[in-house]
Amino acid sequence: MSSKLLQTVFLQSRLHPDLVDYFDLAGYCDCEPSYAQIRSRLQYLLDSYLSPHILSQRLIDLPQQFTQPQPRPWETINWQAINPDQIIGIDPQLFLSVIAASVEIEAPIRAYSQLSRQYLAEIHPAMTHFLGGCYNNEGKLIEMGVWEKEERQHAPAFRKIYRQLTGEDSAPQPNSIVQLPSSGSPVTDAYRHSLRRMTTEWSAVAVYLWLMAHSTGALQQAIAQPLQDEVNHLAKFWGISRWGFQDTLSHRCTGMVMQSAHMFDHHRGDRTAGSQVFSLRNLGYGPELGFAYWQVLRRLCRWHQHLSQGMLQELFGERPQLAAASVG
Ligand SMILES: [Fe+2]
Ligand SMILES: [Fe+2]
Repeated sequence: MSSKLLQTVFLQSRLHPDLVDYFDLAGYCDCEPSYAQIRSRLQYLLDSYLSPHILSQRLIDLPQQFTQPQPRPWETINWQAINPDQIIGIDPQLFLSVIAASVEIEAPIRAYSQLSRQYLAEIHPAMTHFLGGCYNNEGKLIEMGVWEKEERQHAPAFRKIYRQLTGEDSAPQPNSIVQLPSSGSPVTDAYRHSLRRMTTEWSAVAVYLWLMAHSTGALQQAIAQPLQDEVNHLAKFWGISRWGFQDTLSHRCTGMVMQSAHMFDHHRGDRTAGSQVFSLRNLGYGPELGFAYWQVLRRLCRWHQHLSQGMLQELFGERPQLAAASVG
């Protein structure tokens, strides 16, 4: 929808309050949106949830999270109001497959956080604490990391959404974690792990934005909560790894695209709900999803230009010795 037409509809809506129903978190909502309208909805969501201001706010918050960890509070979700009529412009079966895949991919969080501890403990203890929490000498968890606290809400939220939409429980297949072979250098391994973390957050942001473009009402509002957590993580990981590794933008983007190709490959071959999403009958939605991935990365790259080393050092101090090796 053109901005002029959008303006007209908006003015009309002020004269006729019933028209307000046509607007949701993704802007103008047509019950049978065209491809162009879905792109407009994605752009609207990107403006609302991935503006440079929001990304900077999420990053600036990180040093405070190191000293006073506090998970991001969720807005109240009206679970009972979620219903299948709120799925728009997409085969409902595919929408449900993606929700079921999200239940699978969002777990097992403890294993993910343990993996991060393994790679980052020597490099950046405060970030390791933020991700994987604190353990005592006997190896017992005494304080959960903020990242883990936020992440572990996601799989149950998508499970609940699935149940509201179908009346049935999803049957998630156990998700396997890929451990990268060591390069022999702890810094290179930590960098590759950071790339992988950023890639999973990027992927989650793109997919949840796409789900929000294809939903409305309480369903869309529910997905907005994990989405905002993922944006929060993505901004934090992006900024601190820029500070720590001082990699080039092209090296980073190439690494992330390669990591995402590995991830798709990994999930395409298994028997999970995720694999069904890649079935031939769903290929028609590829351009929309590709657009969402591309636009998220584009916004991050634009924001990246504002992340000067001076500003990052003000936030995080001097780079730790171990991470100071060049990674590209
Ligand atoms: Fe998540
Ligand atoms: Fe996340």
